Amino acid sequence: MGNTPRKYALVGLVLAMAAGAAGTAVAEEKKDWGAYKVGDKRSGYTYAAPETRAMQDDNFQNPAMLWAEAGEELWNKVDGEAGKSCASCHKTPDSMKGVAVSYPKYVAAKKGLENLEQRINRCRTENMKAKEWKYESKELLGMTVFVRHQSLGMPVNVKVDGEYAPFFEKGKAFYNQRRGQLDMACKHCHEDFAGTQIRANLLSQGQGNGFPLYRLKWSGVGSLHRRFRGCNKQVRSTPYGYGSDEYLALELYVMWRGQGLPIETPAVRN
Ligand code: HEC
Ligand code: HEC
Repeated sequence: MGNTPRKYALVGLVLAMAAGAAGTAVAEEKKDWGAYKVGDKRSGYTYAAPETRAMQDDNFQNPAMLWAEAGEELWNKVDGEAGKSCASCHKTPDSMKGVAVSYPKYVAAKKGLENLEQRINRCRTENMKAKEWKYESKELLGMTVFVRHQSLGMPVNVKVDGEYAPFFEKGKAFYNQRRGQLDMACKHCHEDFAGTQIRANLLSQGQGNGFPLYRLKWSGVGSLHRRFRGCNKQVRSTPYGYGSDEYLALELYVMWRGQGLPIETPAVRN
């Protein structure tokens, strides 16, 4: 585990980026990105290939809509000892409109953050007396997609002050900290190199507004924490657990970076 291989790997990566950067058009053919661009903030949509954007734009082509439909079915399904469904209490899915924009949220009883996946699971255990759904299960992804989709087009609006402040600072520190064998921080790829090509990928700002989303590479839908784990592994650093405190703080910081961008769930990416 000497220093040398890591240095070489890093140099190789930077060279690959630089080489790719030459002559790379950053999906600029569409001049007016509308809501997908807010000030300097750009949704991953604006970096995606035209075919990928077309898949996202058309509900019949967007494979993630199957997950949304699974979520809709579960919304009405009675489960657990209390004999209730989501609909028993929340009535129509319309009641979820605008809910997603402010997650993750601070929960006093936990003295910590909770994301939408965990909020849904808390309703299952506390209000339905049903079992938690596993992270990345079709059920939890489906319901999360379905609930977030009710806020489609609404701007991300997370809180970062007051009791949120320490978590925001923790997320920010995580974002800027070098890690792994490649010794790179999130910031290096998604701030410094955003808009350049790294191997087959065009680096975006790494925004979270489209999650959970369908990735062609995954042939399925995945959560934001799955993406975090993938990005940690890319620099050969050990990923944290789904729903871990580290990733919740990171989620808050990442959502804040995209404050004002529209909820796109379910987005489609490479
Ligand atoms: C027995 C009634 C009950 C059932 C069943 C129930 N919930 Fe809830 N849910 C609540 C209550 C009460 C709240 C807290 C209301 C509030 O914060 O304004 C809540 C809050 C929520 C929130 C957070 C809303 C916000 O503004 O942040 C979400 C999301 C949610 N429920 C989703 C679900 C889903 C999905 C299901 C089904 C899997 C479900 N709930 C089942 C009673 C229920
Ligand atoms: C070595 C470069 C690299 C590093 C470091 C890196 N990522 Fe990424 N990330 C990528 C690539 C490549 C993609 C896929 C293309 C894109 O959207 O940038 C990606 C995608 C993402 C996306 C999805 C964006 C979208 O619209 O679909 C998020 C969110 C993200 N990264 C967050 C992070 C976070 C948080 C960190 C730090 C833990 C991080 N990344 C570190 C390379 C990196």
